[in-house]
Amino acid sequence: MKLDEALNIPLRTVDKEIINIVKFDKDVPRSSVLAKSIVDLVRSGGKRVRPLMVIVGSRFGPSPDKSKVWRLAAAAEFIHAASLIHDDIIDDSPVRRGQSALHVKLGVKGALHVGNYMSARVIELISGYSAERERYAYDLSSLATTQLCLGEYQQLSYLYNYDITIEQYLEKSINKTAQLIATCLKIGAQSAGADEEISDLLYTFGQKLGISFQIRDDILDFTQSSDKLGKPAGSDLRHGQVTLPVLYALEDQHLASSIRSVSSETPIEEIDAVIASIQSSDALEKAENLSQQYLNEAQEIIDQLQEYPAHHDLQILLNYFGGRDS
Ligand code: FPP
Ligand code: MG
Repeated sequence: MKLDEALNIPLRTVDKEIINIVKFDKDVPRSSVLAKSIVDLVRSGGKRVRPLMVIVGSRFGPSPDKSKVWRLAAAAEFIHAASLIHDDIIDDSPVRRGQSALHVKLGVKGALHVGNYMSARVIELISGYSAERERYAYDLSSLATTQLCLGEYQQLSYLYNYDITIEQYLEKSINKTAQLIATCLKIGAQSAGADEEISDLLYTFGQKLGISFQIRDDILDFTQSSDKLGKPAGSDLRHGQVTLPVLYALEDQHLASSIRSVSSETPIEEIDAVIASIQSSDALEKAENLSQQYLNEAQEIIDQLQEYPAHHDLQILLNYFGGRDS
């Protein structure tokens, strides 16, 4: 079953809310390239994980205000979509969600304008939540977006750096992936008037789920066939990304020197051999164990929230991200 169906959230309503941000934007004509690009981007699909998280979070509060929750959910997707426009430019990636990436369609300058506009528009939208008790909304438009940029910068600054620590890898993964998911759950709960203790627990749950997800994604880069990945296995390392499996493999003295020799100049056959050696080492299992540890910690949080009917939704999210239902 699809995630939105399992959570009983109508994806069409989520999408409508996201499109409405553009539709009711008085400064941008609907026939403009800007508006059309955003609408196309939204319509090109995506699981809407972040909006779903906002809505699930709101189920933990006593007074969910539907229109507020949906708007926050749409804003979360806007930030995510903007970040992917920038990410595809940085990664020089030509395809997104089965379509040409925006920078291929509009050129880099055009795509940058759309991405910048989308992230700035969210700040404008969120500024409507100006009451003191609504300050949580700033967590999404300012803190979460800043951390996304920081995570992406950390990833760039660590390229081909074989001396980064596991802590640095985790911090980068939190900034780039986990914290936005965590923030979505938290602000959903806060917007519905949940206690601070509950919204903080949801944040921690989202963070653990997000780290576990990022580690699994980094493992899949080594384990899935190139057919499934749409790119050759070990693609992250080929581009200089030192992910958790690589860090564990570096602990093996027999593998360390060949891994450390990988640079942007290394011939393909040599990188292929290094990737094969990581694939047959115990590094992937070690990474899988750490991912599972984070999932177990997330499960403990669900167990603490049993009195809330919405804990079932957290279980659905955990099973989905943990790969049991996805
Ligand atoms: C996907 O990475 C990218 C992200 C999760 C975040 C990217 C963030 C920025 C580029 C900062 C700019 C943000 C804004 C809001 C302007 P990936 O390359 O690992 O995943 P992929 O395979 O989906 O491309
Ligand atoms: Mg990318």
